[in-house]
Amino acid sequence: MDAIGSCLAKHGFYERGRKVNYPNYIRLKEVGPRDGLQNEEAFIETDDKVKWINMLSESGVGEIEYSSFVHPKWIPQLRDAQEVGRKIKRNKNVFYSALVPNLKGLEHALEVGIDGASIFMSVSETHNKKNINKSISETYPVLRKVIKEAKQANKYVTGYVSTVFDCPYEGKVDPEQVIRVCNQLMEDGVDAISLGDTIGTAVPSQVEALLERMLTEFSSEQLIMHFHDTRGMAIANILTSLRYGITRFDSSVGGLGGCPYARGAAGNVATNDVLYLLHGLGIKTGIKEDKMQQAALFIQDKIGKKLPSKTVASQANDYKKTV
Ligand code: HMG
Ligand code: MG
Repeated sequence: MDAIGSCLAKHGFYERGRKVNYPNYIRLKEVGPRDGLQNEEAFIETDDKVKWINMLSESGVGEIEYSSFVHPKWIPQLRDAQEVGRKIKRNKNVFYSALVPNLKGLEHALEVGIDGASIFMSVSETHNKKNINKSISETYPVLRKVIKEAKQANKYVTGYVSTVFDCPYEGKVDPEQVIRVCNQLMEDGVDAISLGDTIGTAVPSQVEALLERMLTEFSSEQLIMHFHDTRGMAIANILTSLRYGITRFDSSVGGLGGCPYARGAAGNVATNDVLYLLHGLGIKTGIKEDKMQQAALFIQDKIGKKLPSKTVASQANDYKKTV
């Protein structure tokens, strides 16, 4: 049996013409209010953000990343993170997390309430420098302090690791570099790692190569996949990840978003498209598609332009036909 075959067999999956047993349940993290909005230039009013996050909280989604406590100069759209954190109606079934780059961001987030802190860094030097103004080695001690404080406050910590497949400045990324960064973050105490296809260029063979290597070091429960959909490959990449037993994905309602420090990168894979895929495969998510559709149409109206999700567009047409 080759390496992929043995990995699939280990996780109970079978390939090459045989039936694939997908996981029964997938947990999605809705990152629209953070990753989605951070690239939108026109400011969305705080009360609209709050109303929208409350809509998302009613969809059945288990986790929402509600904002980002970075420097407001870097991401002006999310300068109201604290006000949003104070005003949103907390649903007891939802886990609310936020992006924090350093201790200052964590302090601000703790003041208004988070269940989880999401720290972040890139595996490629140039993207890391452009995104957080530090080299990789300068970043570790900063994040180590954040992880320690967050754990002392009893918070779950997710480590976003960006540019795991391709870097917009340095090109193809070696999986061994991803392993090095993930090992360091795990050693420093993160609970899970979210692997970011920041610029949305990966194809399934890259996902296979990385997961095959990652799963020799980490369990599938510790890994989350975070696909941007620049080239329309995100759904194929999610399907590939499912075959490796991955059960956690990040997505953004309607496909809103992009990375402000990776020019040309599109939004995250659309939550609505992922739901269409997963529910179609008979996989449960606990999320109501109609509620996600309403949340997508709400934010589409506020940003004043069409969201990229094909599912949102076609469901909106279906809806028009019935009225
Ligand atoms: P810096 O300028 O190097 O920070 O920025 P500094 O520590 O030198 O401090 C400079 C000033 O900023 C000081 O103020 C600090 O107090 C203040 P001054 O003394 O000059 O008045 N400051 C802050 N203020 C408010 N909140 C804070 C904060 N920190 C410092 N948290 C820093 C370093 C990391 C803060 C900056 O580079 C930054 O905010 N970067 C954020 C970039 C960003 O948000 N990028 C997008 C998110 S990452 C992403 O989208 C990828 C992901 O989705 C996964 C994927 O797709 O791959 C997660
Ligand atoms: Mg992202």
